[in-house]
Amino acid sequence: MNKLKEAFRRRFPDVSDVGMVISPLRICPLGAHVDHQHGLVTGMALNAAVYLAYAPADNGYIRVQSLDFPDEEYFDLNTVPGMVPGFWGNYLRGAVLSLKQHYVLKRGINAIVSGKLPIGGLSSSAAVTTAYLMALCDVNGISVTGTELVQYSHWVENQFIKLNNGILDQAANILSKDNHLMFMDTRTGDYQLVPKPADMPPFEVVVVYSGISKALIGTDYNNRVDECKVAAWVIQDLAEMEIASLRETRLRDVDEATYRRVREQLPPRFRKRADHFFAENERVKQGVEAWKKGDLKAFGRLMFASGESSIHNYECGCPELITIFNILKETPGVYGARFSGAGYRGCCIGLIDPQYKETVKAAIDREYPAKHPAYKDIYRVNFCKTDDGARIVKE
Ligand code: GLA
Repeated sequence: MNKLKEAFRRRFPDVSDVGMVISPLRICPLGAHVDHQHGLVTGMALNAAVYLAYAPADNGYIRVQSLDFPDEEYFDLNTVPGMVPGFWGNYLRGAVLSLKQHYVLKRGINAIVSGKLPIGGLSSSAAVTTAYLMALCDVNGISVTGTELVQYSHWVENQFIKLNNGILDQAANILSKDNHLMFMDTRTGDYQLVPKPADMPPFEVVVVYSGISKALIGTDYNNRVDECKVAAWVIQDLAEMEIASLRETRLRDVDEATYRRVREQLPPRFRKRADHFFAENERVKQGVEAWKKGDLKAFGRLMFASGESSIHNYECGCPELITIFNILKETPGVYGARFSGAGYRGCCIGLIDPQYKETVKAAIDREYPAKHPAYKDIYRVNFCKTDDGARIVKE
């Protein structure tokens, strides 16, 4: 954070009213690949974040420099450039456009942004988008609720970047609270922050970065979303239910009893996607109960089961992340683990007993680079704690 403040002072020596957004990376212990089908999810924020130091720009220009990527973004609020595939500035452009649909923006920002952990799978894209939105709202005197921010941030990814994802990332990044499990029904947006009971054993989050960073938009992510929708459509047809447009159809529109009745008639690909959806929703419900009892072992077992279902039923993942998942599954001190995000790149996460940190790191160091030597110099093992959701701090 200090490095960022210094860089900001050097780049913008004459500005005043400086603010800082701390926008955390997120994990999703349970509730994977169900948000786009309006399922149940859980999330937590980490004490590793995207930081944005900013000050208002009265001339209505946006000027943002990244400490992690080359080039500076500079544009007028009235002429926002379009999407350029793979460019870090897209999230900034999208954030401005998202807010402009609801508000008149008069002031721009001068800002410097930086992230902490390797990019991929921890929703740094949602985190950075939220940071831009919060800074822009602050300098323009716009007050928004957490739920509104989730919508504005999600719009950027969905409508500007064109990733057909759900609201898990934004919800976990914005609504989380330290020492709580964020539990949301993504159909209604209703959520609860379930406190960690006093007698729950301590845990930390291991984040194992595979070395693979690529944008989700280039993966099978959107195809899987479509497969889930088609699964819902076929189930509705087989059950002689009324059918809406595919665009409006989600697996959540089908009740589980109906699904069970027609399950055998579904082609295997669609049956597997639906199997994942219904079982994952159930795991989330059971996980929340285990969390309330402080039963990290039961919670962790559900995480492992979720990981298995992502691999075998949802059929996502990549060999590197599957290796990491399997190592974590076999290592003592790991309560539970799964892909951090969609599973196509980025990280695996695990909830671990802090006494086993060295054991966990040693197991990864021993096995991962040996199996995937291409990543031996760039994979990383980090340990994090949980934290509050995105917030602004002022000096
Ligand atoms: C990515 C998406 C989320 C969610 C997860 C998988 O992180 O952005 O919306 O679908 O994958 O659970």
